[in-house]
Amino acid sequence: MNEVLKVIRERRSTRMFKSEQIKDEQLKEILDAGIYAPSATNKQPWHFTVIQNKEMIDLLSNGFKELAKKSDNEYIKKFGENKNFHVFYNAPTVILISGDESNQMAVVDCAAATENMLLAAESLGIGSCWVGFVAYLLNSEEGKEYLKKLGIPEGYKQIHSVALGYKKVNITNAPARRENIVNYIK
Ligand SMILES: Cc1cc2nc3c(=O)[nH]c(=O)nc-3n(C[C@H](O)[C@H](O)[C@H](O)COP(=O)(O)O)c2cc1C
Repeated sequence: MNEVLKVIRERRSTRMFKSEQIKDEQLKEILDAGIYAPSATNKQPWHFTVIQNKEMIDLLSNGFKELAKKSDNEYIKKFGENKNFHVFYNAPTVILISGDESNQMAVVDCAAATENMLLAAESLGIGSCWVGFVAYLLNSEEGKEYLKKLGIPEGYKQIHSVALGYKKVNITNAPARRENIVNYIK
């Protein structure tokens, strides 16, 4: 198996991070991998916000939890009520991926950038988790105040996010993948 295929196979969602910060050069490589993702008609409809400030990361996690507690959705509510739950699993770095609201392919293009960043992180020995939950806060009425604080450009909305940091434990067993999902026509 070549290195790229190995990284794809070995990447796992990391949910336990060391508090030690990742290196600036590593962060740059990860962001570059995101920037080099494909995008429909090369519009690159994304904006990245890197947060390495624990107070801000905790503020977002607590903001999500407060909102989740009031949700009618039992699945979401459960996370809000769980004292031990942290939206970013206490990762030292978070990247928010925001998308141009006027671009119909923004969710797809931002997903391509997000996956590139997860794979780049894995190739550098850095743990990552794709986190969708924070969009629940940032795209809500309450979220507007956070978007301002974060300096998200006007006309961009929260789409995906990535939690990054060195892994506390190395997860080797992948959650089971569905079978019989390929049709061949030859
Ligand atoms: C769009 C999207 C949103 C996700 N949001 C979350 C999230 O909010 N929290 C979380 O812990 N994992 C989240 N995940 C990670 C998935 O749970 C994980 O990828 C899946 O269980 C497969 O495990 P693996 O990443 O180790 O292969 C998300 C993944 C995707 C693609």
